[in-house]
Amino acid sequence: MQVIHEIAAMQAWSLQAAREGRAVGFVPTMGALHAGHISLVRLAKARAQAVVVSIFVNPLQFGPTEDYSRYPRTLASDCRLLEPEGVDVVFAPSAEEMYPTDAVTVVEVAGLSERLDGQSRPGHFRGVSTVVAKLFGIVQPRVAVFGQKDAAQVAVLRRMVRDLNLPLELVVGPIVREADGLALSSRNAYLSPDERKQALVLHRALGQVAEAAAKGERSAQALQALAEQVIATEPGAKLDYCAVVDPETLLPVADTAGGALVAVAAYFGNTRLIDNLLLDRE
Ligand code: PAF
Repeated sequence: MQVIHEIAAMQAWSLQAAREGRAVGFVPTMGALHAGHISLVRLAKARAQAVVVSIFVNPLQFGPTEDYSRYPRTLASDCRLLEPEGVDVVFAPSAEEMYPTDAVTVVEVAGLSERLDGQSRPGHFRGVSTVVAKLFGIVQPRVAVFGQKDAAQVAVLRRMVRDLNLPLELVVGPIVREADGLALSSRNAYLSPDERKQALVLHRALGQVAEAAAKGERSAQALQALAEQVIATEPGAKLDYCAVVDPETLLPVADTAGGALVAVAAYFGNTRLIDNLLLDRE
């Protein structure tokens, strides 16, 4: 497994892979890898002849009061997790390499970028779509794999790939959870033992929504109210948003019969966690 830090070297490697007829599967990450990321690497591995994982804590997607500086940076242990997975390249550029001071181009998926997390975190999705577009240009993947936990990010990036005619397939891996239901996230490392227990309320709320939906409840308002009620039972949780939306447009739906995304975000202490549930089209 090679670790590449320079953009030019990464592009040269990808060009060589293309010359050899090897399709590249790509998993963009910010590092602090966990089993959720590894599940995405395995999906990439199953779909492509070569696998690249990027590790880059992208300053552009953090707000001024967010956790950019304290976000965990664990390149050596991340590489130890990736090596046995048969990853070919870890691409770990510096912020200076990715954003020279004279860079002025951004990619903005208008509308979608202001919904869900985009509403709570202004500029976040502009940062995500800009860095992912750059990473696609550098790594030139045939397949790129993202996690369903970041459902709004998936919607934004799907739309970017479609609108810009990017020649790759976007694959989405299911949410990976701890045994007790907590969705894996690099930010779980910030939780105190008490907050860790409180955070289970998100999974409980979504579980009750899934049960109600399975019993035939289709009213988005009723399902949203149910999730909010469950989250309100946990005094340690500060709700950021709870929404029932179309998974592609992220716009609210009235009825879930056509398929819906139930998305929640809440703070436990200073840590903001997200989780979601996809309700299939009937
Ligand atoms: O999902 C993430 O970890 C990040 O948003 C991504 C896609 C790597 C872009 O920085």
